[in-house]
Amino acid sequence: MSLIEQNATDAEIEKDENVIWHQHQVTKQTRSQLKQQKPVVLWFTGLSGAGKSTVAGALESALVQRGYHTYLLDGDNVRHGLCRDLGFSVQDRRENIRRIGELAKLMADAGLIVLSAFISPHRAERQMVRELLPEGEFIEVFVNAPLEVCEQRDPKGLYKKARAGELTNFTGIDSEYEAPLQAEIDLLAGDKSIGELVLQCLNTLQAKGIIRA
Ligand code: ADX
Repeated sequence: MSLIEQNATDAEIEKDENVIWHQHQVTKQTRSQLKQQKPVVLWFTGLSGAGKSTVAGALESALVQRGYHTYLLDGDNVRHGLCRDLGFSVQDRRENIRRIGELAKLMADAGLIVLSAFISPHRAERQMVRELLPEGEFIEVFVNAPLEVCEQRDPKGLYKKARAGELTNFTGIDSEYEAPLQAEIDLLAGDKSIGELVLQCLNTLQAKGIIRA
């Protein structure tokens, strides 16, 4: 059992009544006005190998070229640092997403356009992050590629290991993935080019008034 599994869930952890929120002078509004943009969290979810990091990275480049201030949080990278103590049990993945959600919220508070690329396999956890943010500030992007396509791509050789029984709790093989029911953006990532997928994201962000036309 991991450390996290031994701990109570965050709902059970009572806040210390002696810890009091400090309202600082510089606000989210000031910070985003200075950057001339609307903060938002673009939450990419999908199977390993679906193309989350690739599409998120290409979209980030397109946004930066247009002068927006961004930050990309990537599953494998975050697991080298902030979440290096977490594995792939249901509880550890939940804690992974909870930490990233809080981090994304802080980054949005800094006025940034945040892109996050995590499998985030459970609807409940994605909903938990959605609820951390004001209405309209969480945009769920489903990187929708069938398991067969992801497994055929197998960019890191992990599906092969999972099929051989060398890797357990692997999403799509012996660990579930719950597809979004109503993602704001549904990308058919098995069929379309990266350029087409980025354009679809940009068009939706424009239609929602998040970026300029
Ligand atoms: S999540 O489920 O907690 O959201 P996250 O996106 O952080 O996952 O990490 C997924 C990455 O970790 C995958 O892209 C893959 O490279 C690697 N990985 C290693 N073991 C597993 C596993 N058992 N299941 C899924 N991904 C794994």
